[in-house]
Amino acid sequence: AEDGYDLWLRYRPLRTEQAAVFQHHASQLVIGSATPTQTVTRQELLRGLGGLLSQTPTLSDTVTRDGAILVGTPTSSPLIQHLQLDTQGLGNEGYLIRSVVVEGHPVTVIVGNSDVGALHGAFQFLRLVQTGQPIDHLDLHDAPRLKLRVLDHWDYLNGQVERGYAGASIWDWWKLPDWRDPRYTDYARANASIGINGTVVNNVNAGAEILTSRYLQKVAALADVFRPYGIRVYISARFSAPIEIGGLKTADPLDPQVQRWWRAKADEIYKLIPDFGGFLVKANSEGQPGPQDYGRTHADGANTLADAVAPHGGVVMWRTFVYSPTNEDRAKQAYDEFKPLDGHFRANVLLQTKNGPVDFQPREPFSPLFGAMPKTPMMMELEITKEYLGFATHLVYLGPLFEEVLSSDTMTHGKGSTVARVIDGSLDGHTLTGMAGVANIGTDRNWSGSDFNQANWYVFGRLAWNPTLSSRAIAEEWVRMTFTNNEAFVKPVVDMMMGSREAAVDYMTPLGLHHLMGPGHHYGPAPWDASEARADWRPVYYHRADRDGIGFDRTRTGSDAVDQYAPPVAAPFNDVKQTPEQLLLWFHHVPWNYRMRSGQTLWYELVAHYTQGVDDVKKMRETWRQMDGYIDPERYQQVAAFLAIQEKEAQWWRDACIAYFQSISGLPLPPGFAPPQ
Ligand code: GCU
Repeated sequence: AEDGYDLWLRYRPLRTEQAAVFQHHASQLVIGSATPTQTVTRQELLRGLGGLLSQTPTLSDTVTRDGAILVGTPTSSPLIQHLQLDTQGLGNEGYLIRSVVVEGHPVTVIVGNSDVGALHGAFQFLRLVQTGQPIDHLDLHDAPRLKLRVLDHWDYLNGQVERGYAGASIWDWWKLPDWRDPRYTDYARANASIGINGTVVNNVNAGAEILTSRYLQKVAALADVFRPYGIRVYISARFSAPIEIGGLKTADPLDPQVQRWWRAKADEIYKLIPDFGGFLVKANSEGQPGPQDYGRTHADGANTLADAVAPHGGVVMWRTFVYSPTNEDRAKQAYDEFKPLDGHFRANVLLQTKNGPVDFQPREPFSPLFGAMPKTPMMMELEITKEYLGFATHLVYLGPLFEEVLSSDTMTHGKGSTVARVIDGSLDGHTLTGMAGVANIGTDRNWSGSDFNQANWYVFGRLAWNPTLSSRAIAEEWVRMTFTNNEAFVKPVVDMMMGSREAAVDYMTPLGLHHLMGPGHHYGPAPWDASEARADWRPVYYHRADRDGIGFDRTRTGSDAVDQYAPPVAAPFNDVKQTPEQLLLWFHHVPWNYRMRSGQTLWYELVAHYTQGVDDVKKMRETWRQMDGYIDPERYQQVAAFLAIQEKEAQWWRDACIAYFQSISGLPLPPGFAPPQ
């Protein structure tokens, strides 16, 4: 039975005719096994080709047949060295795949400068076969645009996953380090197949315990499993750890004892994990300890940890997700705190910034920090787990959301200064670059709580590798690998995925609304909820609906968040007529009878968006109904059942929000508005 465990690495047999064609290009496998990475590359190719082609290529030390596959590096393989391929530009992790002639035989070579590069090439080759693309005249080369491509696990050591909707943490800390669950290897395979090269194993709301030697042994065991796959481990470090587990009286980052403690801790970690990646830190954010507790800055804090890991080649990913209940607009606070610190961070510090200025909403404008700190490496943080997008059941493909922010133009160096170019370092000349995704992985058999949520893990990895890839192309790849190459399935399902994010925006928070979710859990609508003691945790803080209108005035006459953007971006955001309507209520407080571009009033249009969202989900269900029979019944039925939940909840969102906003606006519903059945 299908349970989704294989993810996109689902090497089921291709159609016979197709397999027959590919078999000619997979007759023999010539690959070393001198290193752990070479060994796992060999295993993956045997497993993948054996499964897809129903015929396993024979292993050989040298090329003796037409259609051999030759894998390695110029240093590991004399045959490859002999080909004198140009591997410049592949870096350490890139690869090339080419159709060549070796010893008189037509051969496919898969080459990297390192074993890990060749492993990435092997996964790409498998992807070509799995998605049914021609492999007879190959000339591909590819290398990652970003250096750190990292999953952030919000996992607690007690097995709970914060904002996790796929079961418990996959890290079985009690059984580690001696028992290494085979699932860790499958996790590494899945990540390596999409180029992810790092994992932060614990929650940003970190306890200090993971930094004790007992836990470091466990983390080291995970690192051992991941290493052959080119994946490093990182730890979320609790800023006050020197007090909690170090016995010091302070965690003041400028205190020499504290600095010594972090250095000694780093030395201890690197003794166990020589390729340890470094620390992720959430400091002075949502109650977490940090340097400001001692009157120091974020830079002081980050630099102390950075100095500790620098001798070992480690980095610090310091988060900019900070805000507190002051009179200042929450959307402005990160910029206010961090922008003045540009140029004050050590070279091995990256600032990790969420895509938008508030918190992973269905739609936000890009964070104004992108482009605003040219002297500091800016790392992007995306949320793969759907905290604000329907948890496990709603089918929402996040590719378009990710693509939207990456392609946004900051205009900081004129037109074309996209967020993608900020984070890939090309805009301001940084080589330390990265992207992090808050993982949606748990102990569920299908890893991610639903089959379609796997696509969000997949698209994150592919975009971290190359932030200019198209989310549609990635969706298509994923559908083919995960389900089937049958065109009658691929096209409608990709279309359905591509429209799913806008549907969610429409039935949850259209026209720039945000944070209307139930406080605390964030599941379902609660725009009226005033139970939180903190004003900035109440939905009304964000929608500001009153008798006259709705929306958050962030213009110059309001909170002036617009001026955190470069002038050519700020100007249209400041002008209600020029603001894209999809962000209207993010930037403006607008009268209910405001005329939209369609000619309708804002009130009617708001209702229309909510209704559109529900209708779109109905269409998604209809599309899926047509897909019955193309895939296994197990996955088909679960998706169908989840879509039914999504439709019910889209309607809940629509009705709750319309009823609530109507109670404030006092306006009648549009003529012909049909109440739900
Ligand atoms: C959100 C989320 C929290 C998380 C926080 C963060 O607010 O709800 O669970 O800890 O983001 O990113 O630090």
